[in-house]
Amino acid sequence: MRGRYRAAALLVIGTVLAVLAPTLGSGGEAGSTVGAGAQAAAPRSATLVIEAKGSTYVPATVTVGGGGTLTVVNLDTYDHTVTSTAVDERGEPLFDVRVDAGTTATVTGVENLANGRYDYICRFHPFMRGTLVVEDATGGVGAEPVAFEQPLVVPRVLKGTDVRIPVRQAPVRILPRGPRTMMWTYGGDYPGPTILGRAGRESRVTFAHRLPRRAGPLTTHLHGDHHASSEDGQPTTNLIRRGSSRTYRYPLTYGGRPAPASFFFYHDHRMDRTARNNWRGLQGMFLVEDAASRRLRLPKGRRDLPLMISERSFTSGNALANPFADGPTMHGHHGTMSFTGPGSPPDDHTVGSHVIVNGRYAPYHRVSATRHRLRLLNAAPFTAYNLSLSDGRPFVQVGTGSGFLRTPVVRTEINLGPAQRADVVVDFTGLSGQDVVLESVPAQDERGTGSRTAPIMQFRVGRPARDPSRLPSRLPSPKLVRAPAEVSKTWTFDLGGGKRHGTFWAVNGKAFDPDRPDHRVRLGTTERWRLRNTSDMTHYVHIHAEQWRTVSRDGNRPPPWERALEDTWRLDPGEYVDVAARFLDHAGPFMIHCHMLDHEDHGMMARFDVVR
Ligand code: C2O
Ligand code: CU
Ligand code: CU
Repeated sequence: MRGRYRAAALLVIGTVLAVLAPTLGSGGEAGSTVGAGAQAAAPRSATLVIEAKGSTYVPATVTVGGGGTLTVVNLDTYDHTVTSTAVDERGEPLFDVRVDAGTTATVTGVENLANGRYDYICRFHPFMRGTLVVEDATGGVGAEPVAFEQPLVVPRVLKGTDVRIPVRQAPVRILPRGPRTMMWTYGGDYPGPTILGRAGRESRVTFAHRLPRRAGPLTTHLHGDHHASSEDGQPTTNLIRRGSSRTYRYPLTYGGRPAPASFFFYHDHRMDRTARNNWRGLQGMFLVEDAASRRLRLPKGRRDLPLMISERSFTSGNALANPFADGPTMHGHHGTMSFTGPGSPPDDHTVGSHVIVNGRYAPYHRVSATRHRLRLLNAAPFTAYNLSLSDGRPFVQVGTGSGFLRTPVVRTEINLGPAQRADVVVDFTGLSGQDVVLESVPAQDERGTGSRTAPIMQFRVGRPARDPSRLPSRLPSPKLVRAPAEVSKTWTFDLGGGKRHGTFWAVNGKAFDPDRPDHRVRLGTTERWRLRNTSDMTHYVHIHAEQWRTVSRDGNRPPPWERALEDTWRLDPGEYVDVAARFLDHAGPFMIHCHMLDHEDHGMMARFDVVR
């Protein structure tokens, strides 16, 4: 598929390549400087080529003289960026340029850099990495260590069976300095309040839409929960109109019994607008407690922290950037939709310059030198975070977000793509007076689209304290269904269309059509589905309605942390995952989609109907 759409552009650029080829050679350092032979006084500038073969930067290390410029030639069929991983004192990358497929760009900021080595990545494909070396500079700006200067905010918890949340515009303190950022909020804050539900007891949540007119109608989905189709917050039905409100009923039961303890989140799910509405702030967390989870001696109260990790970019005055303003143009109707213009698939990826936790950029949190439970959620629109702790300390993972694992799994890295969660325990014992940073690092087994490199938040470890918590050797993991041997439905995720008439993201070759059922399942039956990624980037696939057992990954037993209930799976290019669930309680239409929100908005969603 790669290369098919940009053939014309490549012909033109081919000429440029022919000119550059002699100097670029096979990646040697000498070839990286263009015009090095010019008068000694002129700063040495350099050129970087992004090659279509594997989307790589050539050469991998490029050197410029102080005051020199860096030009990027993108010969690939994808748009890319050259983005420094080091930041300035505002938290902005030292340089960051977007180079659309078949174009060139000059990396502004490079001419002001001080001597040093600067690693850079592509924000859209963080597996792409390179290093810029600046030499012979006199002065200039260098990297600033990220200052963790504002406290973490833990969203207020709303208990009770009847919760009312006004959806309104409000200023939120995201960046530590300057004005607050105007957002669309659940209840006046971002993230919205954390709702605490009790398994087996119906929870009713009312959302009152008071956003400005341009927001259009809304819909709220409780991600991971098992509820009726009419309560599901789907893209085009049961919408919440401006000035009105809607109550969602979540029974928090499964087959008449209390649902498993879990860590869900609620977010907007509006047709074509999910990425925008989530970016603007319509996200909150939802915890379900059950009797078994209360009996466990996991860290509680202030030592149980829900952490929603996401990212945003800003314009002047700390206003939210609007990456959707010049987004792609949609053609046709649902089901036949296709997109042209900048940001069309496969180049639709909303990323932010600043990683935020519970709505704050680079927060710190004071903890006692005891065990803590962290509920980690990736609420970013596109980016995956491969989480690790700066001193190599492990996470003891106890759950997936959809319930407990059978036994804890000790991990030093946890990759979370959009909508994925992990329930972990971290032990700060013995670290009094030290800082531990939660960061996202390159994954050891990096494939596909890769994860971002960034410090995320800092734990400042205080004194030791009494710690009644214990790590259970066995956990109250929900029972898994028996997986049928036969696959009853295969869902294939790939790009559709073509550059001529526009592209879209597809499931089984089709763009989403809310009026078209793509599969029917009988209530009461158990099905095994195969999720397949035949595209050349990673997708994170989410299924509504049921909680699923991961049966196999690429034909093998899934890794230990996937041997429990799950609702969102990572699918690297070429991978397939088999999942099984029993369809219980609720008939009606539901969704399966990629949780990279631009992909979802640009067609990568399908509908299945549970029928009686
Ligand atoms: Cu988290 Cu269909 O969504
Ligand atoms: Cu890229
Ligand atoms: Cu996707």
